[in-house]
Amino acid sequence: MSIDRLFQPYDFKALHLKNRVVMAPMTRSFSPGGVATDDVVAYYARRAKNEVGLIISEGTGVARPASLNDPNIPRFHGEEELKAWKKVIDAVHAEGGKMAPQLWHVGAVRSRTPDWSPPGPYDSPSGLSSPGKKFGEGMTDAEVADAIAAFASAAANAKALGFDAVELHGAHGYLIDQFFWEGVNERTDAFGGPTLVQRSHFAAEVLRAVRAAVGPDYPIIIRISQWKQQDFTARLATTPDALQQWLGVLIDAGADIIHCSQRRFWDPEFPEDGSDLNFAGWAKKLTGVPTITVGSVGLTGEFVASYAGEASKPASLDELLRRLDRGDFDLVAVGRALLRDPEWAVKVHQGRNDDLLDYSAEALRSLA
Ligand SMILES: Cc1cc2nc3c(=O)[nH]c(=O)nc-3n(C[C@H](O)[C@H](O)[C@H](O)COP(=O)(O)O)c2cc1C
Repeated sequence: MSIDRLFQPYDFKALHLKNRVVMAPMTRSFSPGGVATDDVVAYYARRAKNEVGLIISEGTGVARPASLNDPNIPRFHGEEELKAWKKVIDAVHAEGGKMAPQLWHVGAVRSRTPDWSPPGPYDSPSGLSSPGKKFGEGMTDAEVADAIAAFASAAANAKALGFDAVELHGAHGYLIDQFFWEGVNERTDAFGGPTLVQRSHFAAEVLRAVRAAVGPDYPIIIRISQWKQQDFTARLATTPDALQQWLGVLIDAGADIIHCSQRRFWDPEFPEDGSDLNFAGWAKKLTGVPTITVGSVGLTGEFVASYAGEASKPASLDELLRRLDRGDFDLVAVGRALLRDPEWAVKVHQGRNDDLLDYSAEALRSLA
């Protein structure tokens, strides 16, 4: 299978990518006080210089008091913060790269940083951090409206700074995903309800507001997942039909590209259907919109186990290329392999497989 498949250009709206390699969003917590440092600027520029087609930033906070749960995660609002992001995008463009910020609200996933808490109460649909675990009250109507507006103004900021697209973090059990998830969304207003379509209303309102803020031609990516960090076995859409209806709401509201988060890209999404299509494969098949796959690309082990200390070795890309070649998805996000090695894409392109590096959690300690 030719690696060239991964290095074909990709065009969508005004987004012209030199290849299909996307740097997956990865929180690094190297931005004290929420402001990205020059080291962060150089970290992203190194990936742009080394053939990453599209960089998606680490999750970056929208303007709600508790949108972030760690003081070292960068914010995407405020004068100092946006000045720093301007340096990032200018440096990435100077290296010929393209970049989208990942706009994030952590919702009810609370701080693990000792002696620090955000300057306001945690937002959540119903005051639940996971099913059955109540910690407070759900968001009021005004708070919901303010959160929607915060995503929209962050997206407007991204466009004004010159970023090439935006990604909304709608995955992994954070705020947008908390609205999707019946286990923690017990609302009885327009933002809740027994069906996934009803619980997608918050995401749809965010998408509509973001679309209104950036205009029709600006690419909007939404990242979604079935799994939650609170429950790896959780599933939102248990049938292709349910997936189609869910995605339909998101696409109608303005989503252009669906970023389908899986821990292992080769896992079939609906094995009971006898198909080997993964999450991104089904999303593309059911909707026709572009999709991004992700999950253990180029590595033997998956990322959650890596936090617990499991090391990964470089792995063959043949199965990925087979699926890409079949048209299952358009773009391929790479997380840890690119966190570990800014030159991963160049090495893969040049067939320098012996130069590929192992991954271990040690890599998290610095911004190499
Ligand atoms: C250190 C680290 C931080 C991450 N932070 C984010 C994040 O901010 N937003 C997000 O959507 N996913 C985040 N993820 C998940 C990655 O984007 C990706 O989906 C996951 O690592 C699987 O890809 P991989 O196997 O290639 O690493 C993070 C993963 C890692 C390892």
